[in-house]
Amino acid sequence: MPTIRVSSSSGPYDVVCAPGALSRAASLIARLGDSTGTFIVSSPRVWRNCGRAIASKISGKAAKNPILFDDRESLKRLSAVESISQQLIRAGADRGAILVAVGGGVVGDVAGFAAASYLRGVRLVQIPTTLVAQVDSAIGGKTGVNLPEGKNLVGAFYPPKLVIADPVLLSTLPHREYRSGLYEVIKYGVIADRELFVFLERQMPAVLRRDPDALGWIISRSIAIKARVVGADEREGGLRQILNFGHTLGHALEAATGYRRFLHGEAVGWGMIAATMMALATDGLALMEAFRIVRLITTVGPLPNVPAISGAKLRSIVAGDKKARGGRVLWVLPRRIGKAEWGIEIPWPVVERSLQSLPEIMAETQTGLAAARARHAKS
Ligand SMILES: NC(=O)c1ccc[n+]([C@@H]2O[C@H](COP(=O)([O-])OP(=O)(O)OC[C@H]3O[C@@H](n4cnc5c(N)ncnc54)[C@H](O)[C@@H]3O)[C@@H](O)[C@H]2O)c1
Ligand SMILES: [Zn+2]
Repeated sequence: MPTIRVSSSSGPYDVVCAPGALSRAASLIARLGDSTGTFIVSSPRVWRNCGRAIASKISGKAAKNPILFDDRESLKRLSAVESISQQLIRAGADRGAILVAVGGGVVGDVAGFAAASYLRGVRLVQIPTTLVAQVDSAIGGKTGVNLPEGKNLVGAFYPPKLVIADPVLLSTLPHREYRSGLYEVIKYGVIADRELFVFLERQMPAVLRRDPDALGWIISRSIAIKARVVGADEREGGLRQILNFGHTLGHALEAATGYRRFLHGEAVGWGMIAATMMALATDGLALMEAFRIVRLITTVGPLPNVPAISGAKLRSIVAGDKKARGGRVLWVLPRRIGKAEWGIEIPWPVVERSLQSLPEIMAETQTGLAAARARHAKS
């Protein structure tokens, strides 16, 4: 079964990624060694959709009595970690227990942080059920929760012992959530993998249909990139920053709109267009490459409109981001498709102009694509 090994400070772990990987869950977990019990942490919604598939593969008490918590982003809080820990105690989980997180990024981050802190650490297995979680959040060891002051402000680096990414689990994912994950896949193509980018250009209709072969391929390709990056720089001292392509502005858009207008990937979609415009404006990217990046983002579908946000407000949010260094904002910009550079300072007026140009760029790309499609249909 296709497996990608990730190295981490607490030892290597396997990401098993293929349609049907779930069918081997019990034996893969058993390979982690003796345990005093397996405990599933999930959410009511995920369990409604995926519970039966999981329960048929992980038999016994764990699947009959999963620990469920509400995985709304607004409830990704320390109180959820406390409640999970109390339920683990009541269920008799000791230090030999294995905690299995089944869900999207919220479940993975919260359950991961619970695993990191419960009895000072129990083994963690991630079974991601969203595209974002399969290609991103379940790999790399970042766990944590939000504070009212901001996202993911309390947490730990706590790598899992095993990740099982089965694309079959994505079949019940709402389409908007699915599309949102595709922006993260495009991100990998732009920053590190031209072949993945070209595949997406050619196969987007199949990808949007969730064709199992296309989906399996883009997921394992994305995981391989994330594994390589976090394996080389777990603590984000250098290379890992490259994964923030589209995120500096994406996070600011999410924060400025109260985390209600955009799904995370959608905000990243806009952020990638803006970063592409910045690279173009500073002569760091060829026009045709920029066009292809914007066009591919557009083909995923419509993005929620960017509301009018004052330059000053945006600047204060971007400079206050936890990844800004002493108020200095450093950007990740594409240099060509498949290669990006991080740690780049950009004059603020260029940033603002890129942001202002977003609606126009989107409209023009869509018009251009519609015209091209019409020409194609006639010929
Ligand atoms: N740790 C990291 O490195 C990292 C990286 C990226 C994102 N994140 C975090 O991940 C979170 C976002 O994760 P997400 O995009 O996976 O969203 P999510 O966890 O909020 O899930 C989205 C929605 O889909 C539902 N859902 C999940 N799987 C389903 C399925 N198979 N079928 C039907 N419904 C399903 C969930 O219940 C939820 O309502 C954010 O909190 C973000 O901060 C963490
Ligand atoms: Zn992201």
